[in-house]
Amino acid sequence: MTQPTMPIDPDILIEPQRVVQPASWAGHVPFGAWLVAKHRPRILVELGTHTGFSYGAFCQTVQTKGLDTRCYAVDTWAGDEHAGYYDDSIFDEFSTYHDSRYTSFSRLLRMTFDEALDYFDEGSVDLLHIDGLHTYEAVKHDFESWLPKLSSRAIVLFHDTNVRERGFGVWRLWDELSEHYPNLRFDHSNGLGVLLVGSEIGEEVMAMQRHYQASPELVRGMFSQLGQRIENESALRQAEATSLKRHELLEHREALIVERDAALAERDRIIEAYEHERDDLKRQLGHIVNSRSWRVTQPLRRLAARWRRG
Ligand SMILES: C[S@@+](CC[C@H](N)C(=O)[O-])C[C@H]1O[C@@H](n2cnc3c(N)ncnc32)[C@H](O)[C@@H]1O
Repeated sequence: MTQPTMPIDPDILIEPQRVVQPASWAGHVPFGAWLVAKHRPRILVELGTHTGFSYGAFCQTVQTKGLDTRCYAVDTWAGDEHAGYYDDSIFDEFSTYHDSRYTSFSRLLRMTFDEALDYFDEGSVDLLHIDGLHTYEAVKHDFESWLPKLSSRAIVLFHDTNVRERGFGVWRLWDELSEHYPNLRFDHSNGLGVLLVGSEIGEEVMAMQRHYQASPELVRGMFSQLGQRIENESALRQAEATSLKRHELLEHREALIVERDAALAERDRIIEAYEHERDDLKRQLGHIVNSRSWRVTQPLRRLAARWRRG
């Protein structure tokens, strides 16, 4: 059987504008961008956004491709036991970034995933990215509670299908669900499961799924290598930021040393001046003690002292 030829597509060559930490999604940016560009979701919902690596890539694609997609990021922006708990600075930084670029088609919903359900019609979501708490129970609940919201074109992305430690259970749910729906699975960058839930998914995505079925290692290898490029870029930026911080620390330390040297020099100057003054006084005292009038008046001073003692 001849293998279907995989079209080389510029949508996989995205240069992400938002490269942040944590970067565990970095390696999926090429596939995520390709998927949004080809699937053209009318409504895209992300459950779990944190600093916005994945959501940034989705929004960037919607904007550069001029898509008619409405995007929603749902998160308490408080963290969880796997992502860690964090303060408001994460939401403040991301919402400032987001609001200056994407408000014409995107909204940040700061609430729980369950609370957000009320804001979406049944059968309306074309692309759902589940990336919240990663226990089996949590991710199963997220999938099942959002299932009625999915459209007939729906695709669901699961991040972290390839993490088994620390109580992660996405892999277990993935094993169950992937039996029932056509899918693709990438194992790099903690793993990404792509579940084609709807029965009316467009031809370009279905063609990619056929390529995947025919040669999974080829499709996985291509996106893993493209993803590696973004991971490298992210690691480089992180190293640059660390080195900049170190440089600033060094500069601060050098400024402290200069300050301390100046204080030491000032102290030495004061001691020297004091010693000068002391030597002067000693010299003056010597002159007085050895002077003729001092010696002549000595018996009088002794008499006065005796008189004072009584
Ligand atoms: C793994 S992080 C998301 C990573 C993100 N997609 C990225 O690209 O870096 C998980 C996020 O889900 C949020 N979260 C977990 N469970 C939640 C829930 N039930 N409702 C709202 N937010 C939740 C946490 O606050 C955390 O920011």
